[in-house]
Amino acid sequence: MTVGPIKFKRTNGGVGAFVRNVDLSQSLTQEHVSAIKSALGEHGVLFFRNQMISPEDHQAFAENLGSIDVNRFFKPVEGFPKIAEVRKEPEQRSAIGEDWHTDHSYDQIPALGSILMARELPRHGGDTLFSNMYAAYDALSDGLKEVLQTLQAEHSSRHRFGRQSKANNSSDTGGRLGNPDLAVQDAVHPVVITHPISGKKALYVNRTFTLGFVGWSQAESKALLDFLYDHASQPEFTYRFEWEEGSVALWDNRATWHKALNDYHGERRLMHRITLSGEALSA
Ligand code: SIN
Repeated sequence: MTVGPIKFKRTNGGVGAFVRNVDLSQSLTQEHVSAIKSALGEHGVLFFRNQMISPEDHQAFAENLGSIDVNRFFKPVEGFPKIAEVRKEPEQRSAIGEDWHTDHSYDQIPALGSILMARELPRHGGDTLFSNMYAAYDALSDGLKEVLQTLQAEHSSRHRFGRQSKANNSSDTGGRLGNPDLAVQDAVHPVVITHPISGKKALYVNRTFTLGFVGWSQAESKALLDFLYDHASQPEFTYRFEWEEGSVALWDNRATWHKALNDYHGERRLMHRITLSGEALSA
């Protein structure tokens, strides 16, 4: 059992905090769970080191935080249907999640976040970048904030995982199940959300799944979305997490984006991911 208070130390970058004094292979008290949830709402992503946890421990930690949202498109870990593999083999060129995104924004009830655990790492590379959507929103002008607060955006899984997608029309499918007929999710969410834990405003559009603004043409949407994507991926909002054996990252999709760096061709990288169920988002 973890003894004493859990400690959180901000990273030196624009997002995230390291968590100290916790052992995820042991059961957590309600106090610890509350501290982790509230720190997640504040920092957007929490990093844990030296956690030698089994898939059972990983799942128990997730179930302490909430219910599990099983991903439709990734292969499950053998014997653990609720844990998805994020796998890239030495002969593959593409990797899961290599563009900036927030998971499951195409769902009407988007996932809260994910708990990613390193299982097999390349000798060099394979870091994950995170970006802070509170800070990205806060740094915009009052004029643009006012406009964005009136907008809704459409998100979809079809163009990324469906029949017409690049992922489906390539032999290099990574760890995906290759089930394009399940890619039928579309959702509309506010462009600026109020975060369900922290109550702070966050920008909620992403390069991978957002199609455009409701009532705007594609060209109009593209111009403003491209500006927002460039703005929100500036280095001052980001942190680059270097994985080690025993590293775990827990992120909140409503407060952050993430991007897996695909810079380790010829080597295997294998991660285990559990996605947590979220709630409907409001402005
Ligand atoms: C993901 O997008 O969930 C995967 C992130 C990673 O593999 O670093």
